[in-house]
Amino acid sequence: MKNNRILIFDTTLRDGEQCPGASMNLREKLEVARQLARLKVDVIEAGFPVISDGDFTAVQKIAKEIKGPIITGLARCVNKDIDAAGEAVKPAGKRGRIHVFLATSKIHRDFKLGKAEDEIIRLAVKGVQRAKQFVDDVEFSPEDGSRTEPDFLVKVCREVVAAGATTVNIPDTVGWAVPDEFGELIRHLYNEVPEFKSGKAIISVHCHNDLGLAVANSLAAVRAGARQVECTVNGIGERAGNASLEELVMALKTRADVYKGFKCAVNTKEIVKTSRLVSRMSGLVVQRSKAIVGENAFAHSSGIHQDGILKKRETYEIVDPEMVGWGKTELPLTKHSGRAAVNARLKHLGFKMTDQEVLTIFARFKEIGDKKKFVYDDDLATLVEGHITEVPETWSLDYVCVTTGTQAIPTATVRLIKTGKKKSAKPEILEDAGIGDGPVDAALKAVDRLTKTHGTLKDYNIRAVSQGKDALGEVMVKVDFGDGELLTGRGAGTDVIVASAKAYLNAVNRYMSSESRKARKKD
Ligand code: KIV
Ligand code: ZN
Repeated sequence: MKNNRILIFDTTLRDGEQCPGASMNLREKLEVARQLARLKVDVIEAGFPVISDGDFTAVQKIAKEIKGPIITGLARCVNKDIDAAGEAVKPAGKRGRIHVFLATSKIHRDFKLGKAEDEIIRLAVKGVQRAKQFVDDVEFSPEDGSRTEPDFLVKVCREVVAAGATTVNIPDTVGWAVPDEFGELIRHLYNEVPEFKSGKAIISVHCHNDLGLAVANSLAAVRAGARQVECTVNGIGERAGNASLEELVMALKTRADVYKGFKCAVNTKEIVKTSRLVSRMSGLVVQRSKAIVGENAFAHSSGIHQDGILKKRETYEIVDPEMVGWGKTELPLTKHSGRAAVNARLKHLGFKMTDQEVLTIFARFKEIGDKKKFVYDDDLATLVEGHITEVPETWSLDYVCVTTGTQAIPTATVRLIKTGKKKSAKPEILEDAGIGDGPVDAALKAVDRLTKTHGTLKDYNIRAVSQGKDALGEVMVKVDFGDGELLTGRGAGTDVIVASAKAYLNAVNRYMSSESRKARKKD
């Protein structure tokens, strides 16, 4: 095999975003796409354009703004899907790709589609040909590929490649495969489809993690001839998620002795920053022990390990944490730091902000600078990410006061400002109180009474953003307002009750916001 370049296809904004409660708004998606470009992934799957106006606009905006990676949109083998994807990726010009898919396994053919093999091939070919009218770069995925009869899969691959597909992606849609078997399947396809051998088309893989094997299966596929791997940051995605980008990339790099000669272009130093951004934008917390990006990934607690590390790092550490972007904190800012210093640090962190936004962040920086001694990079990033995830504020928090203790019924008084739809309308100030199981519950009940919403808190996470007793607390909530959809809310502050009320209010505002309503899936 001459070509040993492994293309990293990131589907955080499509398959990752399909994960319940992970939906992002346009600004959040754009910020993730910018960071993926800094990470130097080869392909960004920016969404499924036909599914909602929000998805269409996001793919189109990303295709327009992001330079470097190929931008793709997903489509079923249905004309309206392909046309929407073609239109959405148009601004990317030659870097535009359409990714069409159709299920091929017997179980999907018989029970989901009710179609025979010939009909599946006919539709797949038609889909690829239609996509070709928009772009040269067409990817085809036989959905549930790993459970498709190998000989039929060969037939499908040959036909779609003949129709013009330049990449054929083999999905392990339900995470069924195991590494040896999946590797064999990929080797079989590589040997049986002449265009894969000649390099005219490439094999890609897309593995789900239902048995915890997504990364292992992807690596087995690479050894067997796959030259593109599809993955998501932090491994987010449907059910147990997708192959995790950071694990795949670091396995290829760290075990270069096994994956000899394989190269990928990812800038590993951007990995931790990307992981944190995706976690905040998606509202999905990264588990502490997650490989590469978890808080504990490089924490050595046992004395024997610590001793070994001090003598020679490689005794217990196979990846240099600095290589993936951990450590090396810059000198923290303080309340005496000026706007120029804050602006310089924002640029260093990679945030693209307008002058007005820098002013807003600077005002918030001053507020927390008054409350804590040092403002670390992570604190600043949290302020910016809080700003990015803001939605139009129907309600904003003016004041919260709680009484609680071992002998008291937790009570919260909350004052909110309601901004009218018209800019000229005078804001209304409303105040009410609530009691609850604890001060947070009491504060959220008061918010519910004032906003006349009835949210059910499905998830509540709090973490210290930086170091010290005065660390900024960041609260992330997932709330169901009765329609079954989980909306994310975030809030940060040195007081965790205030941060919790802000996070809940952020979810309320998201629920109220028309952008989010429009972005909700059409079907
Ligand atoms: O898991 C899957 O099969 C997919 C396809 C659309 C590629 O996400
Ligand atoms: Zn998938």
